[in-house]
Amino acid sequence: MHIFGYPADLPALERLGLPIVEDACEALGAIHGDGTPVGGSSHPAVFGFYANKQLTTGEGGMVTTADAAVKERIDSERNQGRAPDMGWLDHDRLGFNYRLSDIASAIGLVQLERLEELLAGRAAVASAYREALAGIEGLELPCEDADGACRGWFVFVVQLPHGIDRDETVRALRARGVQSKPYLPAIHLMTYYRETFGHREGEFPVCEDVATRSLALPFFPGLSEDQVQRVAAALRTVLGRD
Ligand SMILES: Cc1ncc(COP(=O)(O)O)c(C=O)c1O
Repeated sequence: MHIFGYPADLPALERLGLPIVEDACEALGAIHGDGTPVGGSSHPAVFGFYANKQLTTGEGGMVTTADAAVKERIDSERNQGRAPDMGWLDHDRLGFNYRLSDIASAIGLVQLERLEELLAGRAAVASAYREALAGIEGLELPCEDADGACRGWFVFVVQLPHGIDRDETVRALRARGVQSKPYLPAIHLMTYYRETFGHREGEFPVCEDVATRSLALPFFPGLSEDQVQRVAAALRTVLGRD
């Protein structure tokens, strides 16, 4: 998973010797350190076009692959199991209706023409946040891009200082007109994983520490400099760092 739009370390994962399907849902426009765009490696990669993504068709997504056989299989399975050279009502495998509609595709294609502008807008907001939030004691900002990699900005998630009540922070920000969200929760502590696999607190202490301190701030390409300043001022006040 290229989490938060940051390119994952593919060579390290490849060394495990397992088949890889990349979850690139959050990473449209991201580039690996070697210059390969995320989704342009040899593995199938999945992108999501839900409403919060860099490019949205409302729902749906896309799979990229360099493998013609994988493409043929996906083309068929998403289209109720029809093979490309078969007639309308012949199905040679079990399939599904996972088609992205023509209308949704048209909405996506228009944004694709403006993708660089949309990504640049998000990157500019991220850098404005970086400046506005610098120096707030104990607040950790998203890591910088490293080793030549370039993220496709998706969310701006900060880590609150230790000892701060995150839920109380969310409430206090809301009272000042600033929306924020806990993001992401630890997967093993979600109800399904607790109930199905018996996972409990304490099993993954680093993940749990990060998850309980993570906070996503308002983030979209059109966020103005003034609005960024307002969010930063509210957070500074709520954290008692004025
Ligand atoms: C990393 C990641 N994977 C998968 C998904 C799911 O995408 P979809 O709901 O379009 O299937 C999302 C959506 O937010 C995501 O952020």
